[in-house]
Amino acid sequence: MPFADPSSPFAAAAPGRAELASRYAAVRAGTLAVAQPLSAEDQCVQSMAETSPTKWHLAHTSWFLEAVVLQPLVPAYQAFDPHYPYLFNSYYEALGARHPRPQRGLLTRPPLADIHAYRAHVDSAMQHFMATADNACWQEAASLVELGLHHEEQHQELIQTDILHLLSCNPLLPAYRPGPTPTDSPPHAAPALQWLAVAGDVRAIGHGGPGFAFDNETPRHQALVHPFQIADRLVTCGEYLAFMADGGYRHADWWLSDGWAAVQSQGLCAPAYWLAPDDPRAPAGEWQVFGPHGVQALDPAAPVTHVSFYEACAFAEWSCARLPTEFEWEVAFDLPHIAQMLGHCWQWTRSAYEPYPGFRARSGAVREYNGKFMVGQQVLRGASSATPAGHGRKTYRNFFPPATRWQISGIRLAKDIA
Ligand SMILES: [Fe+2]
Repeated sequence: MPFADPSSPFAAAAPGRAELASRYAAVRAGTLAVAQPLSAEDQCVQSMAETSPTKWHLAHTSWFLEAVVLQPLVPAYQAFDPHYPYLFNSYYEALGARHPRPQRGLLTRPPLADIHAYRAHVDSAMQHFMATADNACWQEAASLVELGLHHEEQHQELIQTDILHLLSCNPLLPAYRPGPTPTDSPPHAAPALQWLAVAGDVRAIGHGGPGFAFDNETPRHQALVHPFQIADRLVTCGEYLAFMADGGYRHADWWLSDGWAAVQSQGLCAPAYWLAPDDPRAPAGEWQVFGPHGVQALDPAAPVTHVSFYEACAFAEWSCARLPTEFEWEVAFDLPHIAQMLGHCWQWTRSAYEPYPGFRARSGAVREYNGKFMVGQQVLRGASSATPAGHGRKTYRNFFPPATRWQISGIRLAKDIA
């Protein structure tokens, strides 16, 4: 069954064959580079149901290319192993039964070496296909290959966030990879927060031009944006410490009901991966943060990350502000003095993850890529420090359940203009 739909945004302006083949090699190598610091043991374990082992990510991204490009479009393609689709299909009902997500960490077999061989098998077939497909077939395939590469980049980020959670469960708090050597120089100070005013208007929202976009960024449409102010930078760890010191986690008034229930039931008192001064794993007499480089002193000027939507809303309420809507965030993207929009952290918005007006599910398996998750989640905008360069953009819509703390998620404030 062909998955391409000429009306799909996936089909918009796919790059040329040589460019895509080159990008294919770079992205696939990039995934292996992300996994390179990890041992085979690191790559097999799953620390919670929401995360997946690195080995599974390495295989799943290959399965996606196999299922969406090679199987439907290359009649002579020989599958690497007929059992792999069951193991490495994530959530595509149209592509058959699958191994339960919470049990991905039980797959000690196939071994990592077999997964590397699987990747090489798929790469060989993909490169041959991209070099030899006739033009009619390539017309159908190009946008799917491009989707497969953007999908792989999403998993490059997930490998990093998933492994961070796994390593955080180890009492030795090992580093994912070596980081910069700490210096004795005092941390720099964040610039004073400035409020940027934006006039209300009917604004065009969503992807509509050339270049790749996921279907959830379309169709471009008109949205009424009321006058608002938005912070020119992200909320810092130092500002979040002030919220904590003011009883941020002890006063229900600032919290949404579900957020306060999480504070109570989970004993929350700080962002995920923060270590209290008396933490027995690494006592230091001051707050520290566990990250990809291991345990490091908290930098009060750095953006606070690993907070849930609930924590972001509580901080905003304490600040006499609110979170921006995703439309406000997108409008603010082009303001001349706004900073830290891409590359630091995903930024929670006050917008529920909903289809844009006119959103239409596509035919075929890629129909399940985004649309079926459009309930019960919040939109995050931006891109994080783990997002591959060039992957984020102004119209990108990430989405997670509001309690999520294991993603690199932070806070940008907004306010109404009366
Ligand atoms: Fe996936």
